[in-house]
Amino acid sequence: MSSVRAAVAALVVVAAACSSSPPPPVPEMPTFSVDVEPILLKNCVRCHGAGGTLNADPSSSLPYPPPNGYFDHYADQGNCTPDDAGVIPTDCKLGAASLAPAMKVYVNCDDLPMPPPPAARLSTHDRQVIGNWADEMPPLP
Ligand code: HEC
Repeated sequence: MSSVRAAVAALVVVAAACSSSPPPPVPEMPTFSVDVEPILLKNCVRCHGAGGTLNADPSSSLPYPPPNGYFDHYADQGNCTPDDAGVIPTDCKLGAASLAPAMKVYVNCDDLPMPPPPAARLSTHDRQVIGNWADEMPPLP
């Protein structure tokens, strides 16, 4: 009997050691610097803004650079005021805040999510952080 109990106890210890710790709770009012930037640096910036540029990944399902979106910073850089025809000047680097609503849509898109396959999808936790952040209107720095 005691050996059974010892075996059960050992199993419990193994199970506890194997189960990864649960993700931290999703903040209701996430900020860029604390909550969102680490997610973007890990999953997005290699295409969206690393080295100050938009970068192609030839092994990706979208093997060309993104049209805009420099997610290593919060605010727009350069002249981002559209001209009379509504065209944004080419020196405009849209920061993460300006594309927050689009980010929320793209990370939750089942057909072609961001980051594009074969990159792994963002976790549910990380998608909720970006969603809550985008919903703040304006998203907090
Ligand atoms: C492998 C490179 C790559 C990675 C990594 C990547 N993207 Fe993209 N992203 C692209 C490309 C390419 C496009 C253009 C999509 C198209 O042609 O439809 C794009 C477009 C976008 C757009 C639309 C931009 C616009 O101006 O309309 C958003 C928003 C976006 N990505 C968010 C993200 C987020 C958030 C992540 C990380 C969670 C991410 N992307 C990771 C390559 C990437």
